[in-house]
Amino acid sequence: MQTVTLIPGDGIGPEITESVTQILKSAGAEINWDIQSAGADVAETEGSPLPDRVIESIKKTKVALKAPVTTPIGKGFRSVNVALRKSLDLYANLRPCKNIEGIKTRFENVDIVIVRENTEDLYAGIERQIDNDTAESIKIITRKASTRIVEFAFEYAIKNNRKLVTAVSKANICKLSDGLFLECAREVAKKYPQIEYKEILVDNLCMQLVQKPEQFDVLVLPNLYGDIVSDLCAGLIGGLGIAQGANIGKDAAVFEPVHGSAPDIKGQNKANPTALLMSAIEMLKYINQNDIANKIEKALFKTIKEQKVLTPDLCGNATTTEYTNEIIKNM
Ligand code: NAI
Repeated sequence: MQTVTLIPGDGIGPEITESVTQILKSAGAEINWDIQSAGADVAETEGSPLPDRVIESIKKTKVALKAPVTTPIGKGFRSVNVALRKSLDLYANLRPCKNIEGIKTRFENVDIVIVRENTEDLYAGIERQIDNDTAESIKIITRKASTRIVEFAFEYAIKNNRKLVTAVSKANICKLSDGLFLECAREVAKKYPQIEYKEILVDNLCMQLVQKPEQFDVLVLPNLYGDIVSDLCAGLIGGLGIAQGANIGKDAAVFEPVHGSAPDIKGQNKANPTALLMSAIEMLKYINQNDIANKIEKALFKTIKEQKVLTPDLCGNATTTEYTNEIIKNM
């Protein structure tokens, strides 16, 4: 039995968490959940949206499954997600984007893995109001973080039989910061001659992704571009409801969907739990429960391929509960 920290989050978080834990239980996953709440409600009662107990739990269990947590926009507390990634030094954000049979999209043969730097860039949160009409935000890029994220991308490519790593930047404009990122990427690339290495500017990448996404394999990006391009790539394969993710560090890993807390559909029993479920499947593989992971994955893909019971974001009319039951039935 493995203990795993579970953060049900808020918004649609608790609904999709309920769905996913039910599926894992039915599949026979050997997990003992250490449930840790975080977010706005917790901030009211405990004074912080991310109390130390959450971090302590993950430090102990070394692995967590996390549903989305709302971040106030333009005011209020700093993002729980950013704080979590920083305090556990979860420096690599891994987001595989692959077409799933049965989900109609404009593109075929999309099989891209995004490796996003997770600890610095504009997300360092160094901002100040200079005067009433001017604010500044500082972009931090370091040799250490750039080198280790590019190394992660190449190591991932080797372990997963990938052929090409593309480093993404805006080094024509941010000559020093993105320039340093590219310099590190070139240095690392030299150590992996068996993997092809390319570079692309982020604006060009966005255009190419919506024209010929099949040309890309592993993308490695600084934090902000990685965040934006991840959502774009989620769109290529059918939307945020099916986009999984993982935050990986040396000592811990937190598995979570790309999407947010979707306040617009909260409590309506129509959220798609697939992205959290796919994140949970990766988590099961990470803790070596591969058979259970494969069993769930098979049932999930069968459910989607049959197209009989799908949530509204995938053009179906099933509720979260009906979709969950269908996956369990298919298992
Ligand atoms: P969002 O991802 O929550 O929603 C964008 C759109 O996608 C909405 O129309 C929503 O209904 C839909 N959507 C998202 N997930 C879905 C699902 N599983 N099933 C069906 N439809 C789904 O992004 P938004 O609205 O920008 O952010 C809402 C809140 O979430 C913000 O406070 C944001 O900071 C937070 N957020 C949290 C993240 C995390 O916890 N890792 C990641 C991204 C955003």
